[in-house]
Amino acid sequence: MKWWATSTSSSPSTALRCVANEYRRNGIAKALIEKMVEVCKKQAEPVENITLEVRESNEAAIELYKKNGFKTITKKKLYYSDGEDAIYMVRCIL
Ligand SMILES: CC(C)(COP(=O)(O)OP(=O)(O)OC[C@H]1O[C@@H](n2cnc3c(N)ncnc32)[C@H](O)[C@@H]1OP(=O)(O)O)[C@@H](O)C(=O)NCCC(=O)NCCS
Repeated sequence: MKWWATSTSSSPSTALRCVANEYRRNGIAKALIEKMVEVCKKQAEPVENITLEVRESNEAAIELYKKNGFKTITKKKLYYSDGEDAIYMVRCIL
C-alpha cells in the first residue's frame, strides 16, 4: 500500500494507491489514513484539510473515505482520461 500527499500549505492533496488483494479488509488503508492525519497534525504550518479525488465507480474507496471522516464536496465532471467523473472529497484536520 502506498500513499502520497502533495502539500499546498493548508490543504494537502492525497492519493491512496492500492492494497494487495490478499491483504484487503484488514484495516491497512484505514491505518494509513490515520497515520496521514497524525502527520498533518504535527506540521509546523497548520494543515486545515486533506483533499482527494476518487473515481465515481470506486465504491470500496468511497466507503473507506466516508468511514474515515471525508465528506463529498462536489463531482468533477470528466476528470479522468477515460471520461469518468471524480468525486472530490475533503477531510477537515483542525
Ligand atoms: C480501497 C482500498 C485502498 C481499501 O483498502 P483496505 O486496506 O482493504 O481497506 P480497510 O481494510 O482499511 O477498510 C476500511 C473500511 O473501508 C471500507 N471498505 C474497504 N473496502 C471495501 C469494499 N470492498 N467494499 C465496501 N467497503 C469497503 C469499509 O468500511 C472498511 O471497514 P470494514 O472492513 O470494517 O467494513 C483497496 O480496496 C484497494 O486497494 N482498492 C484498489 C485501489 C483503489 O481503489 N485505491 C484508491 C484510489 S482513490
